[in-house]
Amino acid sequence: MATTLITGGTVVSATGRALADVLVDGETIAAVLAPGSQLLGSDLASTVDRVIDATGKYVVPGGVDAHTHMEMPFGGTFASDTFETGTRAAAWGGTTTIVDFVVQYPDQNILDQYHLWHEKAAGKCAVDYGFHQILSDVQESSLTAMDELIAEGVTSFKLFTAYKGVFLSDDGQIFRAFQKGADDGAMMMMHAENGSIIDVLQQQALDAGHTSPEWHGLTRPWQTEEEATHRAIMISQLTGAPLYVVHVSAKQALAQIAAARDDGLNVFAETCPQYLYLSLEEHLAAKSAEWGDFEGAKYVFSTPARARHEGHQDALWTGLRTNDVQMVSTDHCPFCMKEQKELGRGNFAKIPNGMGSVENRLDLMYQGVVEGRITLERWVELTSTTPARMFGMYGRKGVIQPGADADVVVYDPNGHTSLGLGGGAHHMNIDYSAWEGFEVDGHVDLVMSRGEVVVDGSGYVGRAGHGRYVKRGLTQYLS
Ligand code: URP
Ligand code: ZN
Ligand code: ZN
Repeated sequence: MATTLITGGTVVSATGRALADVLVDGETIAAVLAPGSQLLGSDLASTVDRVIDATGKYVVPGGVDAHTHMEMPFGGTFASDTFETGTRAAAWGGTTTIVDFVVQYPDQNILDQYHLWHEKAAGKCAVDYGFHQILSDVQESSLTAMDELIAEGVTSFKLFTAYKGVFLSDDGQIFRAFQKGADDGAMMMMHAENGSIIDVLQQQALDAGHTSPEWHGLTRPWQTEEEATHRAIMISQLTGAPLYVVHVSAKQALAQIAAARDDGLNVFAETCPQYLYLSLEEHLAAKSAEWGDFEGAKYVFSTPARARHEGHQDALWTGLRTNDVQMVSTDHCPFCMKEQKELGRGNFAKIPNGMGSVENRLDLMYQGVVEGRITLERWVELTSTTPARMFGMYGRKGVIQPGADADVVVYDPNGHTSLGLGGGAHHMNIDYSAWEGFEVDGHVDLVMSRGEVVVDGSGYVGRAGHGRYVKRGLTQYLS
């Protein structure tokens, strides 16, 4: 088993930072030591197989992105990143664990789908991966499947109040699944938007001749997110199941979550970089020489990018600071403009929903540190430690401590990263970047996944098949 010493860096955790050396033995962290520690009278550095010099850099636990959709069948096509391309891009960006969603459409058997997702991922991934399960059309058989999945390490279930005829469950179905989740100690995840109202608004907009991507946002107003979020909270309170609201974008929905938390409920919020940086006016309504007013299709995802002047982005940043928002995932669900987003030319409702940023999350969130919005420790907590705790992986993931998997990122605070196809920091299988032109401080210098260096100064040096399935436990975040 190879030994590695990462020396001279500042090791950062969710609770503090210190100059320290990190000793890696095989796949795990063996020790976190005072700089220059000795072993039996000799320099530790001279006894290990490899030394990584992290002087002047931060040494942080590998990122955990708990919301991805590799190869997701959706919107008449498939998300354009496979497990192979998507996890490689994740590695480039310092993310060493993803949790992807197994999809169940109403006519599909849940356990068959779970096995299918294993087939898709096995032997392909550059970094470790776990699964959540999407439940649509909840039946008695779905509740039985929940037990079997929990035994397999799938301890979280996503339901939808939107996408009628595709994923939407009615309130009774959601209630039943939450009751089962409460019994089992599972985390219940909710895509919270009022799909019935959205369907009417979309049809009315199309009837009035509004076909451009901007209308994706205009027909999903914040009230539809706030209402569905409130409904999910009530179901969580009634059943006692913990609730994790995915991709929160509206400040009013966040206020509902904050109020529930003030009442002592186990209700949690995830947001994504797109809600912190992108907006309806500047992105969904954008025009370009290449795409005309279809440019905004690049930014069609749900919940939608919200109007900047309404203050949603600022409220989310505040929530990240005050812990009303507990973590940041990407909801990585990329579609190319050519042949995929283009399916919705002339009808915004047919644009496949989703965008990709699995590679960019750590860099984008580090800007919060640069701009003084969050601390360095909070950056680690939001992008690694809390996702690991929320989804039952902490101890092994989300922390640099003896016994943990050696998932480590050496991050250069004085480095610089140019995002997007033009800048070079784009290894996702998408023909555009939503982050084109973003110039950010900080740089992912080196990434280690379970003791193997997968990215270094020479580029990607990992391999498909290194990544392993993570059998998760129950959430470790309940209060
Ligand atoms: O637009 C999105 N978010 N696409 C992915 C599916 C989902 O709802 O998370
Ligand atoms: Zn969703
Ligand atoms: Zn999603």
